[in-house]
Amino acid sequence: MNEPKIKVAVVTGGGHGIGRALCRRLAKDGTMVVVADIDESAASIVANELDGVAKALDVSDEQAVASLVEDIEIAHGPIDMFISNAGVGYGDGSSGAISAEGGMHPIDDRWDACWKVNVMAHVYAARALVPRMLERGGGHLVNVASAAGLLSQIGDAAYTATKHAAVAFAESLAIEYGDTGIVVSVVCPQAVATRMVGIEDDSDSMDGGFAGNDVDGVMRPEAVADIIVDEALAGRFLILTHPQVATYVQRKASDHDRWIGGMQRFRKKLL
Ligand SMILES: NC(=O)c1ccc[n+]([C@@H]2O[C@H](COP(=O)([O-])OP(=O)(O)OC[C@H]3O[C@@H](n4cnc5c(N)ncnc54)[C@H](O)[C@@H]3O)[C@@H](O)[C@H]2O)c1
Repeated sequence: MNEPKIKVAVVTGGGHGIGRALCRRLAKDGTMVVVADIDESAASIVANELDGVAKALDVSDEQAVASLVEDIEIAHGPIDMFISNAGVGYGDGSSGAISAEGGMHPIDDRWDACWKVNVMAHVYAARALVPRMLERGGGHLVNVASAAGLLSQIGDAAYTATKHAAVAFAESLAIEYGDTGIVVSVVCPQAVATRMVGIEDDSDSMDGGFAGNDVDGVMRPEAVADIIVDEALAGRFLILTHPQVATYVQRKASDHDRWIGGMQRFRKKLL
């Protein structure tokens, strides 16, 4: 096999779903993959399969993210690609968009949990890696947001708002560092057949729903992972795995008020 373009990669949330598919795709390319997940046993299973490295990691813990980067670079050399893929969504609780309870633990505010995992984890990864990547003249930061970060996830305000913030943070990174050799990509998928839409790993089912919604155009995680890696390597900033999202974004931008009206009607249909 030729020398891989990406020698060392870290994938957060690599134990399941899209992250697991990203690990498998990168390993197929010859990359040494670090599977980092809060679910330690899932990370170990994936890492064993790929001859990679498993790391227990809670991405909402900045010190843990910084230590992981330090440890991996000492043991395996520069991280060429860091994929901040771990993400959470809980659906709106009993008081709808303003609900508080029921994040990672029953007493957590779901908004705090979403901010930490969906946004601050991307900031923590960038804080740990940007100085290193600047010094060596490049690297890839790939941040998995969601189509909800460009449009809206009906029935999950905290997920929607934090995924918008994740897109905005990636834009800031790309504007600031894009001409230094650091390639920043943000990924905005619509529905993917993972546990997040109620589909267990390896179930082969495509029949899921997000926060009680039906979802259109469900894609398999393997297909999504191939698009993400190919487009990140090609240097693309906005990675739309589901092409219809571009049309929806254009409609929203051309008449925001009309788009809100359409979403209100869509929401009523889902009730
Ligand atoms: N499935 C979809 O339809 C869809 C659509 C758009 C975007 N996304 C995004 O894709 C990413 C991957 O989601 P998925 O669909 O594969 O879901 P998933 O639930 O199958 O996988 C998420 C992974 O993240 C890990 N994780 C959760 N919290 C963590 C934490 N604090 N620290 C470390 N790891 C943590 C989980 O253990 C799991 O392995 C998420 O950011 C999600 O928001 C998913």
